[in-house]
Amino acid sequence: MDAKVEKKSLNWADLGFQYHKTDYRFSAVNVDGVWNEGELISSPTLEVHEGAPTLHYAQQCFEGMKAQTAEDGRILLFRPDLNSVRMNEAASRLLMPEVPRELFMRGVEEAVRANYAWIPPYGSGASLYIRPMLIGVGENLGLKPAKRFEFRVFVSPVGPYYKQAGLAVISLAVSELDRAAPRGTGSYKVGANYAGGLLATLKAQELGATEALYLDAREGRFIDEAGSANIIIAQDDNTLITPKSSAILPSITRRSLMEIAATTLKMKTEERPIDLRDEFASFREMAACGTAAVLSPVGRVWFDNAWHDVNGNGDSSGPVMQKLYDELIGIQRGEKPDPLSWLHEVEL
Ligand SMILES: Cc1ncc(COP(=O)(O)O)c(C=O)c1O
Repeated sequence: MDAKVEKKSLNWADLGFQYHKTDYRFSAVNVDGVWNEGELISSPTLEVHEGAPTLHYAQQCFEGMKAQTAEDGRILLFRPDLNSVRMNEAASRLLMPEVPRELFMRGVEEAVRANYAWIPPYGSGASLYIRPMLIGVGENLGLKPAKRFEFRVFVSPVGPYYKQAGLAVISLAVSELDRAAPRGTGSYKVGANYAGGLLATLKAQELGATEALYLDAREGRFIDEAGSANIIIAQDDNTLITPKSSAILPSITRRSLMEIAATTLKMKTEERPIDLRDEFASFREMAACGTAAVLSPVGRVWFDNAWHDVNGNGDSSGPVMQKLYDELIGIQRGEKPDPLSWLHEVEL
């Protein structure tokens, strides 16, 4: 790979969170339980049989991660091992073949490297979003696992998920629809969890909210998560809590923020059920977090037919979230020390 290849002339700072067709993607195929080597291809389309279980029964899972350019030009991934583990947990849950760690990492690295020209430069505020996916593509009619699977990795340069860059304050509306059952598939990154959320997001946006907030499906009391992000809450300058639930995606961003809070910021951290109505008055700062959302403070929440301001002022971009955000993106962009070796450099 010629690392001197010229960057595309995109207006990096104005990118939103949209698909941009890049030059290459990685594809590997599993037939009867055996993976081939995989290769880079240029076509962004898939040939999928009309009887494919991924189309009818959502036998598929995916991941989301980002590559960032450091000031010295290194290309950095953030904790990609955890994406590999999480994809394999989803694969096992949906009776799909696991993607060996070596294949996962090779697919991700090759897709990033081959699209070097599309990786946003340091300081642009943008990054390269990476979407590994595993889908059951063989023909089938009855409800049973596919015999053929494709592991594909495509990438797209992206800007902030919510419109403004940096710490954008968002609002959430509690959904009347449930996202996932306590013993369902909510803790796996599978497409089946997301189609049902489209209507919930639309309804939240009709109320003027940025995203839907889901409460637990059993009692409708405890905070689960937002449509595409987990929730963290500062109860005071020294206490960070996050919902414990079997129905939410174990966000890699959230796990990292909780670790940063406990180690670097020396905060008391706790993962426990959080009763929205009973505890809302105690929230000093609230935020949504995820690979796409990064860390977005939540200013207000719609529930019981009214808007409720976090901390009584609707602007929860307070000191705790600011510090967590600065630490997280500082590590991800290679600007701050990485004491726990979370970064993985893609050799060019
Ligand atoms: C439903 C849901 N929750 C949480 C997250 C955040 O997870 P992560 O931090 O691993 O990106 C995502 C994806 O970004 C998601 O789709």
